[in-house]
Amino acid sequence: AVVILLGPPGAGKGTQARLLEKRFGLVQLSTGDLLRDAVARGTEAGQAAKAVMDAGGLVSDEIVLAILTDRLGQPDVTRGVILDGFPRTTGQARALDDLLTARAARVDTAISLEVDDAAMVDRISGRFTCKDCGEGYHDRFKPTKAEGVCDACGGTEMVRRADDRPETVAARLEAYHAQTAPLVAYYEARGALDRVDAMQDIAEVSRQMARIAERVT
Ligand code: AP5
Ligand code: ZN
Repeated sequence: AVVILLGPPGAGKGTQARLLEKRFGLVQLSTGDLLRDAVARGTEAGQAAKAVMDAGGLVSDEIVLAILTDRLGQPDVTRGVILDGFPRTTGQARALDDLLTARAARVDTAISLEVDDAAMVDRISGRFTCKDCGEGYHDRFKPTKAEGVCDACGGTEMVRRADDRPETVAARLEAYHAQTAPLVAYYEARGALDRVDAMQDIAEVSRQMARIAERVT
């Protein structure tokens, strides 16, 4: 199955993708994570992407598509994928259609996580992640059980993202509204859209997502 998670920064795409991954045996494929990894490794794509990401803009379709195509070809992608943060432009959506058609596959559903702008700023500004296993947390909404210790792996090194500063968050929201929001209509027009009210708590959002995933896997 191919499941797309659409939604503004902080909507909970990463959080929900990880939950679905465990439960449905799908592979989470986050272009944000792949790009951050390329930046950390200092690859050519990473060097080109860094300034754009720090400013809260969108990396070029060319770079993102190259990274995504490479990842889709890895052997662990068998039962299907959850695309977290991709596609983000109509160009990327069309390229994805072509990629899938060539593999006799298609987008089973695009799940639109709907939240209001103020909530997103709150969610992003409290966010941190375990450096060892990537589990995501939030100062208020999802704290670790023991202060500074990862519930999932026991790791003690927590990191915050460089682009989670308030100025950058505003630019990311703007990029979402201008370039990504039109994809909701793109998938709705072909009957492949599910909407989820992502203002609800993590567990409730996850229950609704699971119902959708059950239908398509
Ligand atoms: P990316 O990494 O994709 O970031 P994003 O879209 O801004 O999304 P986030 O990771 O910030 O949020 P999320 O929706 O995953 O929320 P999360 O689950 O963490 O992209 C980063 C950058 O890379 C982009 O700006 C761009 O430059 C570039 N990029 C990436 N993909 C690209 C592409 N395809 N094309 C071009 N450029 C690309 O949740 C947030 C917080 O809230 C967490 O702390 C969580 O614990 C908490 N939380 C989650 N759900 C709830 C809930 N229901 N209630 C309360 N708290 C919650
Ligand atoms: Zn961990």
